[in-house]
Amino acid sequence: MLSRPGVLLLLCLVGAVDALYKQWIPDTNYENKTNWDKGDVPCSSDRAHFPAQRKVSVFVETTHAVQEMRLPVEGEFILLSGAGFYVTSEGEPGCGAGVTTNFKDSEGLRWFDPALWQAAATLNELQQGNFLFSVHEESVPCQYDDVVFKALSSFRVDTSSSQPSSPVHTVSLLGKVFNSPSEFSQYLSSHSGHLQFHGSSAITVGNPSCDDPSGCDCGNSVNHEQICSMVTCAAVSCKKPLLPVGHCCEVCGVIATIHYSAGFNLQTYRERIRHLFLILPQYKSVQLGMSKVSKSQRFMGIIPFIASPEIQVVILDKEDGRQSEALAWDILKDARSHGSNLGITGAEFQASSGNSSDQSDGGAGLVVGVVFGVLLMITLIIIMFVLIRKGHVRLPPMPSLGRFRGSSELPALGGPLDHGFDNPMFDKPHMPPEDNGLYGNETNNSIHLTQTGVHFMNPVYDESETDFNA
Ligand SMILES: *[C@@H]1O[C@H](CO)[C@@H](O)[C@H](O)[C@H]1NC(C)=O
Repeated sequence: MLSRPGVLLLLCLVGAVDALYKQWIPDTNYENKTNWDKGDVPCSSDRAHFPAQRKVSVFVETTHAVQEMRLPVEGEFILLSGAGFYVTSEGEPGCGAGVTTNFKDSEGLRWFDPALWQAAATLNELQQGNFLFSVHEESVPCQYDDVVFKALSSFRVDTSSSQPSSPVHTVSLLGKVFNSPSEFSQYLSSHSGHLQFHGSSAITVGNPSCDDPSGCDCGNSVNHEQICSMVTCAAVSCKKPLLPVGHCCEVCGVIATIHYSAGFNLQTYRERIRHLFLILPQYKSVQLGMSKVSKSQRFMGIIPFIASPEIQVVILDKEDGRQSEALAWDILKDARSHGSNLGITGAEFQASSGNSSDQSDGGAGLVVGVVFGVLLMITLIIIMFVLIRKGHVRLPPMPSLGRFRGSSELPALGGPLDHGFDNPMFDKPHMPPEDNGLYGNETNNSIHLTQTGVHFMNPVYDESETDFNA
């Protein structure tokens, strides 16, 4: 029985390949109130001014009456059919006395600003507003993404980059999809192209799409500094803030890691998690971003190496990570019970509260434990040695060692470090008293623990022959 929505989805989406649609949010539309400094589109008694030195491509959808209009030195109006301007002396009802209103400057809006993009898995979801959360690097278009500028709109974007060009799969603007590199570069050199795209490097289209169902590396790590220079990080208040790969800021929440094998499909899995969990009321405020990453790790904490790629799931919420942790457990349980069907070979998580999934893979833990134990012992021995040398710790006087104490020509090794102890097996009362006279004091402590090891005093031999430490 296909009773679970996730199973149904799995069947529908087999073959889907991971690539996202990234839509540029700002526009330079005449009808968008936010583009005017008075917060309103100019009406018939207003004076509409465009900054003289700014280059701008303005999209106009309808007809507008104005008192006066000042145009920039270089610019264009893209008029939808039927749109236009006229001047009238008759006041419109509700327009008021008339003000001067300026078209806002869009010069500083940058392609690499993660806040200016929305992402969705399909064009349909983009239109419905089902946006996906991503780490900062992946909020900006990745090399295999489809870039969308809203159909009935114009824009101005600064594409300056430290790289010579920024490749993407396709760009669609004004309702036209560009996937041929030559056609798009021709558009860029057109009048509109010049007004919409500016900056030191260019966007190129025609980059192959991601053909690995388990996802592809976004490719924006080369732009990490540039992307993060646009981001202001909020203060975090959790115990152990986490820094996801590809993100600019530390976060409170959970990072889950999914290990996969052949048969894993990132897009299918993303949909599965959404339909199984994210739609539940308790996870309403949760943000979840999923991407393929290659973490560089350190073997035994020292030698860096690049691990095989894995799926990073970043989960954030508005309650300092509490819901994120609950969701991480749900995801782990799902991965453990259905992992073989999904191509998942393992899953674990780390939460900013300090909690984590228990890793049953104890191999690494055991090694770390043993190394730690050995280090701890060495440290203790060194501390003991130093304390004894400095005289902070004195060993209780032993009858057998009596003759060494105060003897200046004897090295410290044979002196206070000689941790002689009374072995109950050779307890004094069992020793015949006359033995003392025969074998000397040493027989009272026939086992010695020294820095170099345990050695025995064989009463048969002379002390000077057997004590190799002396
Ligand atoms: C107007 O512009 C703002 C900011 O650039 C944008 O968020 C909003 O979606 C635009 N409004 C419309 C109706 O497109």
